[in-house]
Amino acid sequence: MRVLFLFGTRPEAIKLIPVVLAMRADSFFDVKVCVTAQHREMLDQILEVFDVIPDIDLNLMTPNQSLPGLTAKILEKVDQIVKDLKPDVCIIQGDTTTVMAGALACFYNKVFLGHVEAGLRTYNKYSPFPEEINRVLATHLCDIHFAPTEKSKKNLLLENVEESKIIVTGNTVIDTLKITKIRLERKEIFCNNILVNNILNEKQPFILVTSHRRENFGGGIESICNALKKFALKYPFLNIVFPVHLNPNVKVPVYKALSGFSNIYLLDPLDYVSFVALMSECYIVITDSGGVQEEAPTFGKPTLVMRETTERTEAIEAGLSKLVGTDENNIFEALVKLVEDKTAYYQMSNGINPYGDGKATERIVGYFKKLYKG
Ligand code: UD1
Ligand code: UDP
Repeated sequence: MRVLFLFGTRPEAIKLIPVVLAMRADSFFDVKVCVTAQHREMLDQILEVFDVIPDIDLNLMTPNQSLPGLTAKILEKVDQIVKDLKPDVCIIQGDTTTVMAGALACFYNKVFLGHVEAGLRTYNKYSPFPEEINRVLATHLCDIHFAPTEKSKKNLLLENVEESKIIVTGNTVIDTLKITKIRLERKEIFCNNILVNNILNEKQPFILVTSHRRENFGGGIESICNALKKFALKYPFLNIVFPVHLNPNVKVPVYKALSGFSNIYLLDPLDYVSFVALMSECYIVITDSGGVQEEAPTFGKPTLVMRETTERTEAIEAGLSKLVGTDENNIFEALVKLVEDKTAYYQMSNGINPYGDGKATERIVGYFKKLYKG
């Protein structure tokens, strides 16, 4: 079976790599990996950790790229790749521009399309923006839907996706964590970021922060920074560790607002192993990331979600994470509560990760083998 993987950003790579590795290890599949490189440095960091060398690298990222500009380039380039390679199947993951435009190019070429992490919804067209609609469009362009949870399956059924075309797999992000844990235990990989190792060796409690959502650009980022500033001043013995996304709409205001505080560490985006090391040792996670919301419960870390909506509601329903929006006071107070109220902290740090059991890859690969036999 000729399988083409198409991805472009850090989270897509993290979540598709276990499937790429499993299919590459199985002679049943003839695997090609095409990266749009919608992200450059942040994608390369992941490819390097897992020794994945793309067969095709479209190298499309440009500084501060626009949504229409990137969409047009992906559509045209992927169309050509699909025409040249003639895959039996193309696999995409998530809700980025690469997913939406790549899926459209595959559809125009009538390629059978598999969507990993299908069916997440907020039902708010502008939050997350543009990801909510990217994911909806991908659903209707795809042929098989790998839903991470029962809830995401239900969302797809509500949009009249045939039940026989939905497979509940769990999220592959948990498979990647599992592989990483094994490779760390075997000492095949290490956290070799000096700053991260210094932070870990200090043994001081720290809050781990990430932020990059488009709908938070401007006022949202500003109030997130104000809340962190206020918190850093109130708790000088607590550190804040913030690997800052390379998007200039995030990087510029964050460095401007938070540089110069002795207990705030602003870092470049981290390689995945270093970031996982921080997640496993931090006190609280505060984020607007999709993937981080899914990973944090594995480490028993209370997670505050700096968004007005989330398509990952399972951890909230399980009491492991909390939606705090982007209001400065709400963020500050939610952090203070977790620091001051041990019962609240304990309740949010004990539970089973609802996003997967580490066997999503097995289920996805199994589906394609069965499909062929069928
Ligand atoms: C993208 C996705 C978002 C995903 C996020 C993961 C879209 C519309 N957005 O957002 O869904 O959650 O990735 O991080 O698909 N940049 C670099 N180097 C990099 C990566 C980004 O310099 O390795 C800078 C560039 O100036 C680039 C800009 O960030 O133009 C924006 O990148 P883009 O992929 O368009 O948006 P993200 O905010 O990263
Ligand atoms: N991550 C990373 N380095 C960092 C920050 C995050 O490797 O400095 C990983 C994190 O473990 C998660 C993924 O990146 O798997 C999340 O990506 P991001 O937040 O950029 O995108 P989203 O998941 O919101 O689409």
